[in-house]
Amino acid sequence: MTNSQKWVTVVLAAFIFLFILSDILKEDTIIRHDEMPGYDTQEYNEERVQDPPGLTLIKQNGCLACHGQDLRGNPNLGPSLYNAKKHWNRDELINYLRNPGDYSRDPRFDEYKNQFRNIMMPSYENLDVKDLGIIADYLLGLQGE
Ligand code: HEC
Repeated sequence: MTNSQKWVTVVLAAFIFLFILSDILKEDTIIRHDEMPGYDTQEYNEERVQDPPGLTLIKQNGCLACHGQDLRGNPNLGPSLYNAKKHWNRDELINYLRNPGDYSRDPRFDEYKNQFRNIMMPSYENLDVKDLGIIADYLLGLQGE
């Protein structure tokens, strides 16, 4: 081999090596969700299959953090959502979820302001209105007190 042929070989080998290396590293950085600790495929799938779409959206959007895992309220963070059907129709509820601030002067909310000091119901204006409708239908369909 001439000197320049040797160089070409070395450069090619280096490229192939780097290509393989980057491929290996790429594989490594992908964390597969089913390999995460605590992930149980069966349990996860069953839970998703059983939730009605409204509840899935409610879980995805963090409502349970303030309104309780069973939507029956959290003493410090948010009221029970089982009352919603007494106070809202579908359109009003969608409006409320988009702009909760617009309704804060309702005397009914004075009690909430007292109980949930410094906690504000966030606006969900960024959600698709269709999804808000599905959430509203779910909340208005909750049975019980
Ligand atoms: C950061 C905590 C927090 C989160 C997250 C949150 N809320 Fe609220 N929510 C509140 C508080 C506090 C109130 C009481 C009104 C107020 O103080 O603004 C409230 C009030 C409400 C009401 C009115 C209740 C009534 O009696 O009329 C509805 C309905 C509601 N939330 C639905 C939702 C839904 C649906 C989600 C998720 C998409 C959600 N909230 C997420 C804190 C929260």
